[in-house]
Amino acid sequence: MDSNPRARSSPASSSISLTSSSDGGGDGGDGGRKDRKKEALGWIEWGRGWCSIIGEFLFQRIAASHVENPLPVPPLDGLTCIVTGATSGIGLEIARQLAESGAHVVMAVRRTKLAHELIQDWQNDKSEIGLTLNVEAMELDLLSLDSVVRFAEAWNARMVPLNVLINNAGIFAIGEPQRFSMDGYEEHMQVNHLAPALLSLLLLPSLLRGSPSRIINVNSIMHFVGYVDTHDMNMTSGRSKYTSLEGYSSSKLAQVKFTSILHKRIPAEAGISVLCVSPGIVHTNVARDLPKVIVAAYHLIPYFIFSALEGSRSTLFAATDPQVPEYCSVLKAEEWPVCAYISYDCRPINASEEAHNLKTSQDVWEKTLELIGLPSDALNKLIEGEAVQCRFGPKEE
Ligand SMILES: NC(=O)c1ccc[n+]([C@@H]2O[C@H](COP(=O)([O-])OP(=O)(O)OC[C@H]3O[C@@H](n4cnc5c(N)ncnc54)[C@H](OP(=O)(O)O)[C@@H]3O)[C@@H](O)[C@H]2O)c1
Repeated sequence: MDSNPRARSSPASSSISLTSSSDGGGDGGDGGRKDRKKEALGWIEWGRGWCSIIGEFLFQRIAASHVENPLPVPPLDGLTCIVTGATSGIGLEIARQLAESGAHVVMAVRRTKLAHELIQDWQNDKSEIGLTLNVEAMELDLLSLDSVVRFAEAWNARMVPLNVLINNAGIFAIGEPQRFSMDGYEEHMQVNHLAPALLSLLLLPSLLRGSPSRIINVNSIMHFVGYVDTHDMNMTSGRSKYTSLEGYSSSKLAQVKFTSILHKRIPAEAGISVLCVSPGIVHTNVARDLPKVIVAAYHLIPYFIFSALEGSRSTLFAATDPQVPEYCSVLKAEEWPVCAYISYDCRPINASEEAHNLKTSQDVWEKTLELIGLPSDALNKLIEGEAVQCRFGPKEE
């Protein structure tokens, strides 16, 4: 098989095929060009990244025209799924459709009252046809790593299997000044990368119990213009002027890089598939911080922008399609340097060229463990069923 797996042209209902490609960059897994110290994204990569973003905006509806809306979801009775950020936008649609397909859904949210209202509405809609949904809400605030540890401990204490973790919650504080969480981390980096990384690792005992299981990270095409400096994850060095765009795109790239190493290091026998998805460019509350005139323009271009229902399809595909685990295991066996990435049209694509740099992905892995307060051998210990100490979370007296 070709050493550069690029999957394409597989409609949601057909097989995921692996064929060779000349694009997509990467350095073949050897961290090539490692002698050159890179301090930012090169102009060519940056330009290509913006072409990908503009291309997605202009052509996503055409490229995804083969995907049904809503995506047909198979019966999911007996499956347990945690969905973060399920009170709004894409996450709300994912949670609702999973529940309506029979899964036990846990809405991991910071606004539990709103989640309970949504559950009531969904249940009322379905009671007419005699369907009882199995949905619950649990509190999780990704701006607090203590909250992440509390959530994971509460869930693991149930000693029940977890089949799918969907790290959907995210922020893009467009145009806002740089802000830091109480834990001291830049907010995009914390909500979009660090907190989901901690959640994924701490929930491994439950995911092992639910194996074969999946961790799905709702990522973004914007990672194509991101760059991660592991010596400056908070983006405070002043080397370049901070913008929310830089904060968002870097956090999404950090997520791809961390996921790639997690994907490589989880032993195949554990049966946990780890991947990223792009939902497309979707009309949700993510644009709530934009200037009013841009929000208005957003409403005027519905042709180009997906609805939240359309934006939920790639994640639902990644969570339920039976061929996804096989695809992930082929990438693992091939020593491919980056995790599987499912695009808005439910087809696998290559993550950005920068995401293929294995050396910097390893740096991101190590730095992330340090920032989220886990020891460097945390993954091995968790896979072996041993306890790990996290710097965050409730302290024992
Ligand atoms: N919309 C797009 O065009 C687009 C494109 C690419 C990727 N994405 C990604 O898709 C995912 C979902 O975004 P969306 O577009 O559906 O946006 P959204 O409508 O704003 O939903 C985001 C969800 O994340 C939750 N959230 C935010 N901060 C949180 C925190 N500190 N702790 C827990 N939950 C938190 C929000 O909860 P509250 O309701 O409590 O704020 C909300 O439920 C994000 O990861 C985003 O980056 C979106």
